[in-house]
Amino acid sequence: MTNIHTPVLLKESVDFLISNKNGNYFEATLGFGGHTEEILSRLGKKGMLVSTDVDLNAFTFCKEKFKDDRRVKLYNFNFSLIDVIAKIESLEFFDGIIADLGVSSYQLDNTAAGFSYRVSSVLDLRLDKNLRKTAADFINNEPEELIADTIYKYGEEKNSRKIAKQIFQTRNRKKIETTDELKDIISSVTNPKYLNKTLSRVFQALRIYVNDELKILESFLKNSVSVLKKGGRLVVISYHSLEDRIVKDFFRYENLSCICPSGIPICVCDKEQRLKIITSKPVVPSEKETMINKRARSAKLRIAERV
Ligand SMILES: C[S@@+](CC[C@H](N)C(=O)[O-])C[C@H]1O[C@@H](n2cnc3c(N)ncnc32)[C@H](O)[C@@H]1O
Repeated sequence: MTNIHTPVLLKESVDFLISNKNGNYFEATLGFGGHTEEILSRLGKKGMLVSTDVDLNAFTFCKEKFKDDRRVKLYNFNFSLIDVIAKIESLEFFDGIIADLGVSSYQLDNTAAGFSYRVSSVLDLRLDKNLRKTAADFINNEPEELIADTIYKYGEEKNSRKIAKQIFQTRNRKKIETTDELKDIISSVTNPKYLNKTLSRVFQALRIYVNDELKILESFLKNSVSVLKKGGRLVVISYHSLEDRIVKDFFRYENLSCICPSGIPICVCDKEQRLKIITSKPVVPSEKETMINKRARSAKLRIAERV
């Protein structure tokens, strides 16, 4: 496999992450090891990097790639289990935590995964093949209303009702099994001018639903703070507004030391500030990076520090 994924905001994210070159770091999204390699190049001999990916292909690829580096510990776990992984490694805290959310270019181009409408494949969209429900299971079996709501909520697609209706009518005649079949259904009810955007939104919605991505992200953020050392950084790269909003809101909430209603003379809540926001506005890729790597266009990097 060559050129499987170009890491995004690589230098910027790792610059923010490493504060102690012999510390213990957690990488939530191993992928094909782009960020891993950069982190390792900055760590000393006593440093350690614990990294995970739910995708078995990514995990297997990196197992081989990093087999000679004893500082690397790899897991094929969901990143929401960061606290469990810390326990397995007998670590109370990490010196820094990084997550580069979403999917890799390899996954988008892989004909077995069905992540992209641009590739003809089965309509699967599971990152973790142990999950029970594929995107095809979802659109062939769930009520039209739930399909419409999902496309609207997770894809922010205004034509969600029309698309869900068309899915429902088609599946009454025959099962929808491939990315091409879904693409044809969406095309039949979408203005060609907006087709690519609509296709991206619907596929994004199905991926988020099938992998329960937003809830998993929330629980990862929550669990991360409990295993992050004081002064350690939580570094997150997101690729769409729903993810970015969750990260932003979480950082804002954890940045507060009081959540009492305004007007109360003394603080009566036991809210504790656990994070300090380092980036009041997200760091975005340079023009040069987005020219070289189209995938970087939507990236947003946010950083907070444990207090
Ligand atoms: C954008 S890629 C990471 C690319 C990596 N930084 C690199 O440079 O090669 C995101 C990766 O996160 C993985 N991933 C997504 N959600 C996950 C989750 N909940 N738990 C673990 N891994 C996850 C995906 O399978 C994918 O390989």
